[in-house]
Amino acid sequence: MCGISGVVGFENISKSLLDSIRNLEYRGYDSCGVAILDDGCITIKKNIGQVDEVNEKERLTDLEGRAGIAHTRWATHGGVTRENSHPHASCRGDFAVVHNGIISNYHTLKAGLKREGHQFLSDTDTEVIAHLLEKYYSSTGDVEDAFIKSINILEGTYAIAMISVYEPEKIFCAKNESPLILGIGNDVNYIGSDFNAFIDYTKNTVVLDDKEYAIISKENYIVKDNIRGERVDKEITKIEWDAEMAKKGGYPHYMLKEIYEQPQSIINALNVDRKIIKKVASLIMDSDRTYLLGVGTTYYVSLLGEYYFSSYAGSHLSAISSDEFKNLAEVTDKTLVIAISQSGETYDSINALKYAKANKARTVSIVNVIGSSIARMVDLSIMQGSGPEICVISTKAAISQMIILISIALELGNMRKKITKKEKKRLEKELIKLPTIIQNILNEKSGFVNNIAQRYSGIKNWLYLGRGVYYPIALESALKMKEVAYIHAEGMPGGFLKHGTIALIDEDLYTVGFIPPREEKDLYPLIMGSIEEVKARNGFVMGFHFGDKEKDYKLFDEEIILPKVDKVIAPFLQLILGQLLAYFAAISLKRNIDRPRSLAKSVTVA
Ligand code: F6R
Repeated sequence: MCGISGVVGFENISKSLLDSIRNLEYRGYDSCGVAILDDGCITIKKNIGQVDEVNEKERLTDLEGRAGIAHTRWATHGGVTRENSHPHASCRGDFAVVHNGIISNYHTLKAGLKREGHQFLSDTDTEVIAHLLEKYYSSTGDVEDAFIKSINILEGTYAIAMISVYEPEKIFCAKNESPLILGIGNDVNYIGSDFNAFIDYTKNTVVLDDKEYAIISKENYIVKDNIRGERVDKEITKIEWDAEMAKKGGYPHYMLKEIYEQPQSIINALNVDRKIIKKVASLIMDSDRTYLLGVGTTYYVSLLGEYYFSSYAGSHLSAISSDEFKNLAEVTDKTLVIAISQSGETYDSINALKYAKANKARTVSIVNVIGSSIARMVDLSIMQGSGPEICVISTKAAISQMIILISIALELGNMRKKITKKEKKRLEKELIKLPTIIQNILNEKSGFVNNIAQRYSGIKNWLYLGRGVYYPIALESALKMKEVAYIHAEGMPGGFLKHGTIALIDEDLYTVGFIPPREEKDLYPLIMGSIEEVKARNGFVMGFHFGDKEKDYKLFDEEIILPKVDKVIAPFLQLILGQLLAYFAAISLKRNIDRPRSLAKSVTVA
């Protein structure tokens, strides 16, 4: 999604401004631009393409100035064109704005402004803001006043940053439901959609809340309330991540780096304060019903959680995709909602949480980004501590969320006397083994998976079959394949196959079977039955399995054999294979690994 940034300081800020949008690239975008104030004049340079391409075409680094704003655009209103890229200026060029979000009343505002003689150059909703500023400034002669009047007339969601020739040493910014934070430095201050915008320069941040605006200058910042215009005292939060953690560190892609960081992110997830884990388990005990919500990968994390809660805690929690939450959930003051989100800024999940809160539910979140909207809007937030996840495709954040849900499930299972203390301890010991086992798989199997991926990357359609907890693993693995390799893969429960999809099976539809260890007596024979059904129709089957039963091997046209482990951790080994297969297939197809087409890291629009 769009990223916005701004820098104001004593020295020329053009390099730090460019760095800021480079560091926001991972959010996903199609065009970018900057506006810099120098000598009482605003210069805007923008174009379609990646930051380095646009820099080369437009010579962004040649600009000089002490205040500037920048933007990476992920098109929503208006096509991907130079005109629609941000920043946008007012008719006289006295104001320049960048924006993330959607202004829902822009049609009406635009029609009114056009009648008053304003000339529009783009199809965006954002451009109305620049013209509103010009309009109000011409009647008040006061930039702050014009800014408040403009933002208060907007409906919808926004994070906005603005510079004006009338206040050349300041950046004005405001937020409503789209992320925006300040970076506080020494004689230079920043704004950004997230920390990455200024992580190279400062670790001190101030998080804006909805309906607040801020004015930053080189030595100062001030936060005020949109409505009353009164000053709001804000705490400075120190960011724990450092710039190095957000760099590739020798890996060719962030995706691979983050896949390899999973052992550490699991350790961090296992180290989440036990008191919080117990507190969430107690909240589940005390609630009439608990919903797990997420969307995309985090929905699959929730679904996996649903299976673990049923198996180990004897409790049925309902996983709901955040975008459908309102349509499905029954929420009262006895309901608990656990929202799962890497970024903490996903619009659908925020919206679902708002609905839950409006209906008096208690709320918990599992979030990776400190100070994010979801972390701040819930009663209790678990920080998962995965470190920055830069690749658009979630890997290490998702596995950590799964581990945290399992920790809560085991705690709840013990509270509800579904598992003994001894059994809980044993299972926790198994979880502790997982980082080393995953490390070994990464070391030993990556090359093999790479060969397989190259061999089959030309196959256009895959069926990923799993049963029980292997079903969400199949879904998540299929999503990785779709996202990064642009290969169609459909996750499905094995038992569902014969109820329709089996009609598709022939020699052209390839299947991956997610085969559990044989001790999973309710799952193993059934999934092998599904595999037989595929084989009987000349389907190709690749088996991810634990090398249990020699006679079954014959069914597989291709196989990846995993070490035997306890069933509580076995699904994660297959998840790693699913990630690697998608990554290497994408490499073989020369895809844009860290920034796949049409995808954005944090989806902040409806
Ligand atoms: C897939 C992926 C997305 C996100 C989804 C929710 O790899 O990353 O499906 O999981 O957009 O995002 P967060 O976790 O930021 O709420």
